Amino acid sequence: MTSLDMVQIKQKAAIEAVNYIQSGMIVGLGFGSTALLAVRQLGELLGKGKLTDVLGIPSSIETETLALQLGIPLTTLEEHPVIDLTIDGADEIDPDLQLIKGGGGALLREKIVAQASRQVIIIADDSKRSLVLGTHWPVPIEVIPFGWGSQYQFLRSIGGDPQVRMKQDGSRFITDQGNTILDCRFGPIKDLRLLATQLDQRVGIVAHGIFLDMATTVIYCGRTGCEHILRSNLKDH
Ligand code: A5P
Repeated sequence: MTSLDMVQIKQKAAIEAVNYIQSGMIVGLGFGSTALLAVRQLGELLGKGKLTDVLGIPSSIETETLALQLGIPLTTLEEHPVIDLTIDGADEIDPDLQLIKGGGGALLREKIVAQASRQVIIIADDSKRSLVLGTHWPVPIEVIPFGWGSQYQFLRSIGGDPQVRMKQDGSRFITDQGNTILDCRFGPIKDLRLLATQLDQRVGIVAHGIFLDMATTVIYCGRTGCEHILRSNLKDH
């Protein structure tokens, strides 16, 4: 598949997700190459007047910059603590719609936005499907700079293989909050809830990329079309 094909597939997913937005909604704007296509699509529909009175809440500085360029009116969680619908991407998605996110480094804000949302629509190409999370991606773990070495040791002690995320220029990647990311390989994760709890309880870890029970819909697109999977339709929901 060429990279052009891939952009078209992501674009299709973005368009299908933006179709769920109605005029007057508060909308969470995700981050990543797929989510930013949805931001562009939203900007286009607002520009043409096909949607009105939508307010966006961006989940990264880059998303905010793009939304402002496109003329999408923005608000905050202080003004609107409940978001009607969020559209975001993901790195790995399992059959229960559990996610690994944070490949773009915006996991903390993305999780805050998802947590505040009535509906979370995840858009992805077919390559994001995974039977067991952790098989394809490390779990991004955002740690405050003070004492990050002890978080590194902790992650090793629970079976992970952490790497400090670096930028292409060789400097350390810094999140929008000024933190460090440890990309931690666990391999296929047997007990997602246990691992999420261990990470949630560790002081100094401010967020991790395991998003449990947050996606309400996943839209997968591939060469042959798109599939919408609703959490409410999952068997043991
Ligand atoms: C951003 O921090 C991530 O959670 C993205 O949503 C995720 O990495 C997916 O990005 P792509 O749409 O670029 O694959």
